[in-house]
Amino acid sequence: MAVREYPPASVCADSPMTPEYRATLIKLLADQARAELIAAHTYSRWVRRAPGPEEKMALAEMAREETEHWYLAIELLRELGLSPDAARRHQTRSWFYATGNVIMSWLTWLDVAMAAFLVDAAAYILVEDFAQSSYAPWARVAQNILTDEEDHPDTGGRFLATQIEQRGPLAVQRGLKKWWRVSMNLFGPPVTANTELYIRLGLKFRTNEERRQIFRRSVEPRIRALGLDVPRLARERYPYL
Ligand SMILES: [Fe+2]
Ligand SMILES: [Fe+2]
Repeated sequence: MAVREYPPASVCADSPMTPEYRATLIKLLADQARAELIAAHTYSRWVRRAPGPEEKMALAEMAREETEHWYLAIELLRELGLSPDAARRHQTRSWFYATGNVIMSWLTWLDVAMAAFLVDAAAYILVEDFAQSSYAPWARVAQNILTDEEDHPDTGGRFLATQIEQRGPLAVQRGLKKWWRVSMNLFGPPVTANTELYIRLGLKFRTNEERRQIFRRSVEPRIRALGLDVPRLARERYPYL
């Protein structure tokens, strides 16, 4: 098991940093900025298409918050001397993001509700790691993001409850199966080549698998509370099928 060498909030923007620390910090921040921007764009696209007044208000609020999270992340990068364009070159490459724009244009209202219910719940658990970051400015920002994010999954749950009322549980259960698999895969392989590095540098404190298990424990009761079943997948380990 990796040993944490950097305690929470022990590094500041003007602290001396090893090249390894700086490069890893920038990559994680650039990935976070991208994830926040995708969330901001997804929710803001749906403000005008929301099925009712309550949904429209909730989406507008989430879109504002996600935009602010993106802005806070790029401000942290700027403090490290990177413009938003320069930061983009540090993002990890992934098919998920390469196809992100295409996927976004296919989304239905049920998908958006599922994303708020599941993907925001998964994101919350990752941001909990960042709230303990060794990089003090990020730990501070992440703590603020967590406060905003707390009710996003509940909002998604409310959207789903309305969908269940209007369309019946079967249609929603089908959507859940698709998004459950996506969410489980979002955490990545149980442990990656970088896990030890992230923990050693104090930039994360748990493995992908630990975060996935926490996600399951918190979301499964919420699924049952909606009157839905936790989907059984064809393959119950990464990659989930
Ligand atoms: Fe966010
Ligand atoms: Fe969110």
